[in-house]
Amino acid sequence: FESQPRPPVIWLHFQECTCCSESFIRSSHPMVGDLILDQISLDYTETLQAAAGEAAEKCLKDTMKNYHGKYFLLVEGSVPTKDDGIYCTIAGRSALEILHETAEGAAAIIAWGSCASNGCVQSSSPNPTGATPIHEILDKPVIKVPGCPPIADVMTGVVTHVLVFGSIPELDGQGRPKSFYSRRVHDTCYRRPYYDAGLFVERWDDEKARKGYCLYKMGCRGPVTYNACAVTRWNAGTSYPIQSGHGCIGCSENNFWDNGPFYRH
Ligand code: SF4
Ligand code: SF4
Ligand code: F3S
Repeated sequence: FESQPRPPVIWLHFQECTCCSESFIRSSHPMVGDLILDQISLDYTETLQAAAGEAAEKCLKDTMKNYHGKYFLLVEGSVPTKDDGIYCTIAGRSALEILHETAEGAAAIIAWGSCASNGCVQSSSPNPTGATPIHEILDKPVIKVPGCPPIADVMTGVVTHVLVFGSIPELDGQGRPKSFYSRRVHDTCYRRPYYDAGLFVERWDDEKARKGYCLYKMGCRGPVTYNACAVTRWNAGTSYPIQSGHGCIGCSENNFWDNGPFYRH
């Protein structure tokens, strides 16, 4: 077999907490090691690359120049737009500047997590830095993979789709891949029979909580949250927030920080 060159990938980090990366490296379907070492060439990423300083910047510039129109751009974090973007700078340049430059030659762009997809905590009121999701800045299509963080296997699943089919997956009206975001958490939640039967947890430590009843009355946002948690689950299919006893806080939905409170008394 003739080996194909691995597609180059640039992964940018702007206003974020890095848990999207933390989630990504826990993917088991496919194994993240197989993806990073065999399927893609992760040429620039501040958290995982061995290079630092000028050597790292050279990797970024070389990839943009040598693979113009061919590299994939993955963006973690929102972009501050107030005061000329000075609230996030890397190697002396603003996130805003870097995003425009790298997006120009990208074959496909993915927004990782709620920060890059909808602004997340940085853009919550009063949004002091003017944090902005990347689709509001760029005039190219952006595949949104929201969640705080997104599910690891959803992240690698989206990358795999782009690599295997050479096209962006089918998206919903908000730009999210339909294969992972077309159903509400509530639609596939294992506690749904309790919801339908009108059996609800009334207090965190009551008997009904111990019996695993529905968390709707505790503020669960599963009925208005589109994500694959109840199907794909987290940590290699082990569990998801509701299974651990807490309601969904809607972490993949727009403005979930401002749509609070998370708790009702
Ligand atoms: Fe962190 Fe959430 Fe932003 Fe991802 S979306 S970088 S997990 S704050
Ligand atoms: Fe729906 Fe939440 Fe109840 Fe599950 S726990 S059935 S998602 S309201
Ligand atoms: Fe987030 Fe709700 Fe899933 S809080 S992790 S979308 S169950």
